[in-house]
Amino acid sequence: MNTIDSLLRHNIRALTPYSSARDDFKGAARIRLDANENPYDREGLNRYPDPYQSVLKKRISAVKSVPAENTFLGNGSDEVIDLLIRAFCRPGIDKVLTFTPTYGMYKVSAAINDAEVIEVPLTADFQPDTDAAWKHMRDKNVKIAFLCSPNNPTGNLMDSARVMDLLQHFGGITVIDEAYIDFADAESWSQRLEEFPRLVVLQTLSKAYGLAGIRLGMAFASKEMIAVLNRIKPPYNVNALTQTEALNQLKDRGSMVKEVKNLVRERQKLSEILACLPIFTTIHPSDANFLLAISPRADEIYERLSAKGVLIRNRSSVLPGALRITVGTPEENDQLIAMLRNFKS
Ligand SMILES: Cc1ncc(COP(=O)(O)O)c(C=O)c1O
Repeated sequence: MNTIDSLLRHNIRALTPYSSARDDFKGAARIRLDANENPYDREGLNRYPDPYQSVLKKRISAVKSVPAENTFLGNGSDEVIDLLIRAFCRPGIDKVLTFTPTYGMYKVSAAINDAEVIEVPLTADFQPDTDAAWKHMRDKNVKIAFLCSPNNPTGNLMDSARVMDLLQHFGGITVIDEAYIDFADAESWSQRLEEFPRLVVLQTLSKAYGLAGIRLGMAFASKEMIAVLNRIKPPYNVNALTQTEALNQLKDRGSMVKEVKNLVRERQKLSEILACLPIFTTIHPSDANFLLAISPRADEIYERLSAKGVLIRNRSSVLPGALRITVGTPEENDQLIAMLRNFKS
């Protein structure tokens, strides 16, 4: 069986990581003259932040029920996606597997790292086609498979039997991106890390927690995988302001839970109303905070809404007629509905 170590790029395995001043000394310092910082206090911001975010990880551990030592934090999950490809994919040789249409950054990060992307189309009901992926799963140069659940832009959860199929038969790293998991009625795969040593689960504070601006992504994985990510990350990849704000916001999850409830209710309302409008042929069921609507007039709808300053995402380049509509506040959704009602069939 492949281990994380055996899948790692040779240069990463041989890497001597940067050792920061904060790595060299742990304990209570009286006088800090080791990091070329400015000694004059600016509410602590004159100091470099904790490179391993230990206080924040403890809080996240309590919220997510994953041990802190199985947690890595990044400058958004986008940073983690890039770090994973860099750690495992030799430029020009190794490949990543995606199930399309899906979140665009897997492909972009792969291209930046010169890793070929194998795109296996999702089935008609937007599930990973593990039969079609089978021959790629056995290619030893396919190092990472990205699964997004709930998937962006289709909005649906991935069927757990198919996810299991991939986890059990793919010899590389399986990444399950759960950016939208808080809107879904499903347990996170982060609760099953012990069964799957090559599994990485991504989550983020950008969606349900409403903190896209602070850039905090989470990866949950085996300790060995966390050690790899810690070795290659920029030393202070999560800044002090982000660590403090995330900690404050995670103290009380009450408003997050309430907002998610509202958004799920609005998702249902929006979905039912849009399904009655003749300009749409399909409104796909969603486990996320957005809807995938299909219309033969997608481009026209997108243009006319944009002209009025109302932005939705035109995904017709990746899926014919597809518009991705984020669920907004009740007032925003009502305004959108009123505008869409004006489209005559
Ligand atoms: C599936 C998915 N993963 C990750 C991200 C990015 O998350 P972050 O803001 O943590 O970088 C997004 C953002 O749209 C997303 O849709």
